[in-house]
Amino acid sequence: MNIISERLLLRAIEESDLEMIHQWSNDPRIASHLAAIHLPSSFYQQKKWFEDMQSQKDTFRLAIQLIEDGTLLGYIGLWHINWFDRIAEFGFLIGEPENHGKGYGTEATRALIRYAFETLDLMRIYTFVLETNLPSLRSCEKSGFKVEGLARSHAFRDGKRVNVVLLGVLREDFYNLK
Ligand SMILES: CC(C)(COP(=O)(O)OP(=O)(O)OC[C@H]1O[C@@H](n2cnc3c(N)ncnc32)[C@H](O)[C@@H]1OP(=O)(O)O)[C@@H](O)C(=O)NCCC(=O)NCCS
Repeated sequence: MNIISERLLLRAIEESDLEMIHQWSNDPRIASHLAAIHLPSSFYQQKKWFEDMQSQKDTFRLAIQLIEDGTLLGYIGLWHINWFDRIAEFGFLIGEPENHGKGYGTEATRALIRYAFETLDLMRIYTFVLETNLPSLRSCEKSGFKVEGLARSHAFRDGKRVNVVLLGVLREDFYNLK
């Protein structure tokens, strides 16, 4: 069953989305902000990423689609889902820079966190964000994430060492959001 919010549809990623996702994954304007390093990747690798995902029980990635006109905006997901401790790592990406700052990232995150707590019965979601990625930090905070720690000099981007921030959201953080 899909996840629907005010403006967005979160649905399974289809093979027809891969061309767009592949472009974003190679776009320095986007990929350089991700906490995990993104080397140049081939379309074959992108297809393998998609195919491997189909059988992974600890990974849950969804396309973010604009309901109004069907535009694919990006994708969002949970991975390293640990069904015993009921925790998962979170990540999100809005592809085209002109779609940044319109609240889509936050709206999708809130919808996915609600789903994680109310349907997947998870207890805690966490994420790693480059300290330099202010839009991501702000968006996560608006969805209830709290800063829990700092991994000093944990990444190397554009010739500089960068700190990585650990953020986490518990049920009470999310439900206490204004
Ligand atoms: C991070 C990302 C997913 C956020 O999605 P988004 O739709 O742009 O985010 P939102 O519009 O919901 O919220 C962004 C917030 O950051 C704020 N922001 C933007 N630029 C900022 C800056 N330079 N400094 C501080 N805050 C900033 C916005 O004003 C907004 O906060 P507000 O609503 O209080 O004004 C998106 O920008 C993106 O995909 N970026 C490239 C890839 C990426 O960084 N992915 C996340 C990896 S952890």
